[in-house]
Amino acid sequence: MNMNPLLTITDVRRSFGDVVALDSVSLEIHENEFFALLGPSGCGKTTLLRVLAGFEHPDSGTVMIDDRDLLAIPPNHRPINLMFQSYALFPHMSVEKNVAYGLEREGCPKDEIRDRVAQVLSTVGLSDKARRRPAQLSGGQRQRVALARAIVKRPRLLLLDEPLSALDRKVRAEMQLELKRLQHEVGITFVVVTHDQEEAMSMADRIAVMSNGRVEQIASPVELYARPSTAFVADFVGSSNAFHGRRVPEGVDVPGIGHLPGLVVGEQTSEAAVLIVRPEDVRLVSESESRLTGLVLDTQFYGGRSTVAVEVAGHLSPVIFTCQGTASVVRGAHVHLAWAPDKGVLLSAP
Ligand SMILES: Nc1ncnc2c1ncn2[C@@H]1O[C@H](COP(=O)(O)OP(=O)(O)O)[C@@H](O)[C@H]1O
Ligand SMILES: [Mg+2]
Repeated sequence: MNMNPLLTITDVRRSFGDVVALDSVSLEIHENEFFALLGPSGCGKTTLLRVLAGFEHPDSGTVMIDDRDLLAIPPNHRPINLMFQSYALFPHMSVEKNVAYGLEREGCPKDEIRDRVAQVLSTVGLSDKARRRPAQLSGGQRQRVALARAIVKRPRLLLLDEPLSALDRKVRAEMQLELKRLQHEVGITFVVVTHDQEEAMSMADRIAVMSNGRVEQIASPVELYARPSTAFVADFVGSSNAFHGRRVPEGVDVPGIGHLPGLVVGEQTSEAAVLIVRPEDVRLVSESESRLTGLVLDTQFYGGRSTVAVEVAGHLSPVIFTCQGTASVVRGAHVHLAWAPDKGVLLSAP
């Protein structure tokens, strides 16, 4: 991947009355990157896309595209396309007319329009549906038409706001793969907004996790999962066990439980610490290796793997661990648990 920044967002702020939608957002998006903005509803994702597309002006801050001031370019001249949350297609127009519409408005020559539309419909796998109306298509196919319409104008940057939220689970999973393939094939930088962490993880090269108008962390999916830098990120991305206590060398001291190991150190500002351990890193061990003991509350089988919930005295919520296949323990069993110290991530308590 090309690591040149295509877009440089610096200190962007936007408030609506008392609501701070964007609170000093800074990030870089690289050329040809598949970038995701991930965060709960209301954290400012759409507002940031609207600032980039030019439908919203920030109160302060700068956005550069290459070496130009993006905010000084009128929306319709920005090399950017925004695909809306509800990708309204024209119901009375055929698929190819829908896709051609933007090029026709730009006054593109007829021959060129025909070629570009045919090519992009082939890219999204809809060549044989060119004459259909949107109502004659499935949800996934309509989604592809919307994508074709956005891509045909060859923007430098394509912004997609919750592009898959209208689709059911199975089609969604297909479209996640499809979007990634498409991004690769057309070589356009994608910024996808989603509140679904699995979706962001499965598609993006890098993810910015947002909360309350702020960027919490920017990292690759793997890094975000293995080394969350804040308790918010750890909680939002994947499931985790969280142990609150006082920071000590090589771990935390948890009241009523004792020393629990952790070596990976994230943001460190307070004595009060939280130790994060992923369920797949917790192992069943013998008594001599035990860090935690408890009673099995429940086991759940999910096909390829199982999840076990363990009640640990002194800890409010059950400790969760996962294992391959069926669980080797039954409800009511007395178990010993441990994890490798380098699987424990130490963070400041929120
Ligand atoms: N035009 C607006 N007027 C008033 N408040 C707005 C407006 N646009 C967004 N907001 C508020 O800003 C915050 C961020 O909104 P938004 O960017 O849409 O979040 P997200 O897309 O992450 O769900 C929310 O609290 C929302 O209610
Ligand atoms: Mg939104």
